[in-house]
Amino acid sequence: MDYIAKFEQIIKEQLARVEMMKQQQDFIKYEELDKIIIGVCGGDGIGPAITAQAQRVLQYLLSDDVKSGRIEFRTIEGLTIDNRVKANKAIPDDVLAELKKCHVILKGPTTTPRKGDPWPNIESANVAMRKELDLFANVRPVNVPEQGIDWTFFRENTEGAYVLGSKGVHIDEDIAIDFTVATTQGTERIARAAFEFAKKNGKKKVTCITKANVIKTTDGKFLDICKEMAKEYEGIEFDDWYIDIMTAKLVDEKRRSQFQVMVLPNLYGDILTDEAAEFQGGVGTAGSANIGKVYAMFEAIHGSAPRMVDEGRDIYADPSSVVRGGAMLLAHIGYTKEADKLYKALDICGNTEKKLVITGRETGATSAAFADYLMETIEKL
Ligand code: IPM
Ligand code: MG
Repeated sequence: MDYIAKFEQIIKEQLARVEMMKQQQDFIKYEELDKIIIGVCGGDGIGPAITAQAQRVLQYLLSDDVKSGRIEFRTIEGLTIDNRVKANKAIPDDVLAELKKCHVILKGPTTTPRKGDPWPNIESANVAMRKELDLFANVRPVNVPEQGIDWTFFRENTEGAYVLGSKGVHIDEDIAIDFTVATTQGTERIARAAFEFAKKNGKKKVTCITKANVIKTTDGKFLDICKEMAKEYEGIEFDDWYIDIMTAKLVDEKRRSQFQVMVLPNLYGDILTDEAAEFQGGVGTAGSANIGKVYAMFEAIHGSAPRMVDEGRDIYADPSSVVRGGAMLLAHIGYTKEADKLYKALDICGNTEKKLVITGRETGATSAAFADYLMETIEKL
C-alpha cells in the first residue's frame, strides 16, 4: 500500500473511533447487576502464579457473595505469548470473546515482544486490551504517607502516542513516521474522570501535564480541554506543568507533596507513573486500574519476569502488586469495605509488621505463604 493510502486508512479509523465515542453511554452500574463476573487472566511468566494468589485472597473476601452467586470468578486461559504468536494477534479472538463476557478482569503481566526477541513484533496485549475494551482511564495511585505523598494519576489510556503505536509508516528506507492522536471526546472523558475523582474524594488540586509548548497540536488540545473543564469545578485548584519539569518536581521533596490528582496523555503517564511508583517501593508495589464505561481491568504494573520462571522461582514472586490491583477491583465494583480491609492488610504485611518477607528466592516467603499471611491479617482486623 502506498503511504498516502495508509494515511487515509489511519484517518478513517480515527474518525470512526470518534463516532464510537460519541455514541457512548454512561458508566455501567454494578449495584444494579444481579451477578458480577470477575475474569482472572494469568498472562505470562510469573503472572499465573501471582494472579492465582490474588484470586485466593479475593475469593476469601467475597466468599459470601460467591456462595450466593452474586459473584462468579472465571479463569480465562490463553492470553499467553505462545498463543498470541500462534494467532499472530495481540489478543486471540477466542480469548477476547471470553474477556467480553466478564464485567471486570484481574490480569497478570503479559510479555510484550520487543525488537530482537524470538517472536514477531505483535502489539502488547495490555495496549490491545485497553483499546479493544475501551479502557480509557488508567488510574494509578501512589501513597507514601510518611513523606506526604498522596498522588492519583489519571493517565489517558487509549489515545496519544499509543493508539497508532503499531501503525507507524516507513515512507521509504530513510523516513519513518509515527503518529500521536488527541480527540475532544477522548480528552474530555479522561479529564472528567480526574475532576470527578477529585471532587468525590475531597482533593483540592488537579494538575494537567503535557508538553504543549512543543507538541502544540495534540498536547495543546489536551491542555485546553482540561483548562476549560477546570472552570466547572469550583474549589478545586487547577494548574499545568510540562512533563520535563514535572519529572524533576517529583523528586523535589519540598514541592512534590503539593500534587494530588494528575491528568496526562498516555506516554507521559506511562513514564511518570513508573517514576512515581519508585517512591512507594517500586513498580512491584503498585496496582493499576484500567477503567472504561462497560469494562474495567485491574493489573500489576510490573512485567512478567520470565527469568524467574526459567530459574524455577515463580513460586517466590511477590504478588503484592496484583493483589493491590485486586483491591482496586473490589472498590470499583462497590465492595469498598472489603477493599479497605485488603489495603490495610497489604500495609501491615508489606510495611509495618512484615512477619514474612518476599525476596524472590528461597531465602524469602512464597507467594502462597504471603497470601495466607494477608488472609490471616484480614481475619484479625
Ligand atoms: C504499563 C506498561 C505498558 C505500557 C507496556 C507493557 C506496553 O509499561 O502498563 O505502563 O506502556 O502501557
Ligand atoms: Mg509503563
